[in-house]
Formats: sequence, structure tokens, C-alpha cells
Amino acid sequence: MRKPNLIGMPDSATILSNGLILLGSAIWVMLPAYLPNNFATLTGGGMPIDMRRTWSDGRRILGDGKTIRGFVGGVTAGILIGLLQMYAEISGLVPWFPSHTLTAVILLAVGSLLGDLIKSFFKRRQGIERGGEWFLVDQLDFVIGALLLTLLLDSAWVVQTITLPLLITILILTPLLHRTVNIIGYKLGLKKVPW
Ligand code: CTP
Ligand code: MG
Repeated sequence: MRKPNLIGMPDSATILSNGLILLGSAIWVMLPAYLPNNFATLTGGGMPIDMRRTWSDGRRILGDGKTIRGFVGGVTAGILIGLLQMYAEISGLVPWFPSHTLTAVILLAVGSLLGDLIKSFFKRRQGIERGGEWFLVDQLDFVIGALLLTLLLDSAWVVQTITLPLLITILILTPLLHRTVNIIGYKLGLKKVPW
């Protein structure tokens, strides 16, 4: 924070730099929860987590879009990026951004794909086929899953790190980022649908 000017209002450069730090912090903090999604798409395939079993409504429990390889590959990628981030944080390379702990990194990565799984369960119960879009839920499942699991098992880190302005930024920014990345993935032929 810079000094306010004479009338006590922050100047526009301060507002801009604080805004950029908030945006950067949102992405930085959530990276271990963002990456699993993209890496699940890259590493996914093979045996689905529900072992192709159906629920009592006759539909698949989770569907072919949730695979063991996708889950493991995604979580691994999330933890690896988190470890790199912790290295940068400890080395003082990113003084503007909040820091992770190893517990938080693991919980964010696992929670993001658990959120994604639970969402697929409810999608199937709603009769939405694998890959069908559920607006906003598809874009926020992993953030909600990541933050809830971390809140449950490491509430101290969440309370300390995820301030209200940061939470609001995350909730607005994530669907936009998710959409953009998925459109790019679709154009590159990595994803079957642009959502
Ligand atoms: N994926 C995976 N295993 C996971 C999560 C994702 O293999 N646990 C892969 C699948 O190939 C999936 C792709 O990543 O198709 C995109 O993930 P997502 O959009 O979450 O799955 P959908 O195919 O849209 O399935 P759903 O309708 O159940 O969300
Ligand atoms: Mg999807």
C-alpha cells in the first residue's frame, strides 16, 4: 500500500496495483486447485472411478468422464505445482502473494477433484449426460470442493489466507478463467466440448 494523497484518497496507481495484486493472488492461491482439472483432461482415460456401475435410477454413478488416471494425474499435478509455489514463497520470489502450506496444497488439489466428482454424481442424478453442461456448477465445483475440504481440515490456513475480497475475486475470476482455458483446450483438440 502506498501513501494516500492529500485528500485521503488512494491515487489511481495504488488502486491499479492493489487490484492486480488481488487478481494475481486469486490465481496464485488457487493454482493447486486449478491445475488438477486441466491435467485430469490430459491424463484421463481407462477405468472410470465408478467401475461402470449404475445407481438405483439406472444411470451411471459418475460416468466415463471421471477416471482413476485422471484423478491421480490431476492431484499429482496440483501437488507438484504447489510444491514449486512453496519453493518460490520460501525463497521470497513472490512477496505480493499469500503463501501455501504443504497441507493446504494437498487439500486444495484433492478437494478440487473431489468437488468435480461430487458434481458429476449430481449431474447424473439430474439426467445430464457425461460432458453435458451444468452452468456455473461446472465452473465452480473444483473451487468450492477445494475451499470446503481445506476449510474442514485446515481452517486456520483458510481463515488466514482467503480474505473476503480474495474470496469474491476467486468466485468471479474462476468461471471466466475456466471458460477461457476450456475454449483453448477445445480448439487444440484436447477437450471434446468447449466447457
Ligand atoms: N477426467 C478424468 N478423471 C477425472 C476428471 C476428469 O479422466 N476425475 C477427464 C475426462 O476425460 C473428462 C475430462 O477430463 O472428460 C474433462 O473433465 P470434466 O469436464 O470434469 O468431465 P466431463 O467429461 O464433462 O464429465 P461430467 O459431465 O461428469 O462433468
Ligand atoms: Mg465437463
